[in-house]
Amino acid sequence: MKTLLAGLLILCLAPPLDAATRAAEFSGDGMVASRSKWASQVGAEILADGGNAVDAAVAVGFALAVTYPSAGNLGGGGFMVIHLADGTVITNDHREKAPLAATRDMYLDEQRQVVEGLSTASHLAVGVPGTVDGLLAVLERYGTMDRADVINPAIRLAEKGIVLDRDLAAQFERRLKDFAKYPASMAVFSKSGAPYAVGERWRQPDLAATLKRIRKHGRAGFYDGRTADLLVAEMQAGGGLITHEDLTQYRSVWREPVRGTYRGYDIVSMPPPSSGGVLLVQMLNMLEGLDIKASEFGSAATIHAMVEAERRAYADRAEYLGDPDFFPVPVARLTSKDYARMRFADFDPDKASLSEDIGAGEIPLESPDTTHASIMDADGNAVAYTTTLNLSYGAKMVTTGAGFLLNNEMDDFSAKENAPNFYGLLGRAANAIEPGKRMLSSMTPTIVLQDGKPLLVTGSPGGSTIITTTLQVILNVLDHGMDVADAVASPRFHHQWQPDRILVEARGFSPDTRRLLQSMGHTNLVEVPSFLGRGIGDANSVMSTKDGIVGAADPRSAGRAVGVSPAQSRADGKSPAE
Ligand code: GLY
Repeated sequence: MKTLLAGLLILCLAPPLDAATRAAEFSGDGMVASRSKWASQVGAEILADGGNAVDAAVAVGFALAVTYPSAGNLGGGGFMVIHLADGTVITNDHREKAPLAATRDMYLDEQRQVVEGLSTASHLAVGVPGTVDGLLAVLERYGTMDRADVINPAIRLAEKGIVLDRDLAAQFERRLKDFAKYPASMAVFSKSGAPYAVGERWRQPDLAATLKRIRKHGRAGFYDGRTADLLVAEMQAGGGLITHEDLTQYRSVWREPVRGTYRGYDIVSMPPPSSGGVLLVQMLNMLEGLDIKASEFGSAATIHAMVEAERRAYADRAEYLGDPDFFPVPVARLTSKDYARMRFADFDPDKASLSEDIGAGEIPLESPDTTHASIMDADGNAVAYTTTLNLSYGAKMVTTGAGFLLNNEMDDFSAKENAPNFYGLLGRAANAIEPGKRMLSSMTPTIVLQDGKPLLVTGSPGGSTIITTTLQVILNVLDHGMDVADAVASPRFHHQWQPDRILVEARGFSPDTRRLLQSMGHTNLVEVPSFLGRGIGDANSVMSTKDGIVGAADPRSAGRAVGVSPAQSRADGKSPAE
């Protein structure tokens, strides 16, 4: 957990961004909100060209791999929640998998202690990438455009380059010492070791060549042939485990979403191997019995109730959540209203409980950087897409010759029972390493439906804080009546059972509120950077209103919401970078 806090504090030292200047975007014709202005622009242009939300989401996914390399990726994984205008609701799981040669104790030394850095900063940290298979599978099943149409914008951005803004140039410079371990990473993110300056054009020819192989050969352009050879050679050179067999065997999985209801709205979110959807529904169920609207946003009573729901849900995460293909995750029970009532029966509105007294619930047995994009088109199709390399820039390791970064998602497994991972999350057998297993995630791409139609598309990066960020955006809209821009911008806090403390964004909550929380027994309040700079989460969201579709980029970062204007067209064939 120290590491998560350190990460948040480093973000605090980042140069201020032009965040506060971005207002909500309106459009009647479709909307994309993502962490990258170039990727949002690509998505909006796909919609303007007649593509549906799925086409746009796939194009955004490929564009993020070029323009937001700290989390957008070809070498990582992600989850997509899709709602189609005909009522179809489905999710695509393209989470990374443990290589076939992985073993449960692969990160332990002879004394059975976790070897620091092995699961985050070595070739052994890399899980078998899933993004390319997932994006292509989604396009094939629910898209309307050709593969070339949705990959070409990313190729143009990689080949012709983008003019670096302060956000990206500063990120690269901050990471140079991590990239220095890997010549291929230095070649991409520096000019022969010197940092890029704001305003310089940044090109990625190797990545463009990889994207062209995918455009030409589909999944074989990544999982077979030259790209696969380069990836396997990278693994062999650095002592990693991924083989050709791992790559050819990899398949994304279609999964039924986790569903819940909250005060009459339908919640559709990501099932295991994400813990996100299950915990979100569980927490909403626990809170539904309280009058959150009456206790109001930001009051000690509201924060206390939410923390107590979070404490119980995250305790269950450690025990019961993992890859459902390997462990019988009791989803139905965990997300039932009855279970929530039982689990929250000991809630005391005046007094904090102690995490050490909260174990997992009784279940008869039957899972900081990531990025989130929200997309809605004019026809009622909506996509919530969260994708990741795990930590910022993943393992910081670019595949030599192929130009894409590799993930360090293996750290999301439980390396040892009850040993915290980077995010301080604990896990047990359900999330132990096994060959071919998917590591538990917190990614929570979510669509809220009203009368069967998409109302809100949301989600966030932030490791363990993803789920509570998503919860807060949803409560801000449904209980506190905020518009999407306020719902996304409002101050946040986070509790995850262990360690037993509340992270609060600096200057987000009044001293009076903090004093009241402390008097209830929430004595461990830890400040993280202010929500006015960079705080918890980056919940780029889109909401349908009576006036049109509204997009809100989170003011904590440099994302952008771009709406489709009827006049917009890509007829000139130019990429948004030009
Ligand atoms: N790597 C962050 C997550 O999947 O939760």
